[in-house]
Amino acid sequence: MPPVSTITLNDLPPAPLQRGQDLLGAMLDAGLPAMYLCMAGSCGRCRCRVSAGLEALAPRTSAEDFHGCEDDQRLACQARLDVDGDVHVHQPPR
Ligand code: FES
Repeated sequence: MPPVSTITLNDLPPAPLQRGQDLLGAMLDAGLPAMYLCMAGSCGRCRCRVSAGLEALAPRTSAEDFHGCEDDQRLACQARLDVDGDVHVHQPPR
């Protein structure tokens, strides 16, 4: 059975995303080349622009506020899928 929800990084093929899972974890599990350093909301390196599925994500965390994420930006290590949906994020290529 196909996954209910997916995460897409830039123009790469979509990967499975489970409810409650953070976006960075899902991307790394799928072998996607997401940018990150700390995985803990400290470095800000995993910041991404969300072009679809923003409404499916849990509310932003204090770490995302600290890093000044704009309305369409999230930290991939902090943003968790709250309800089923397909999420499309963009990061600059490495
Ligand atoms: S990986 Fe450092 S803030 Fe997300």
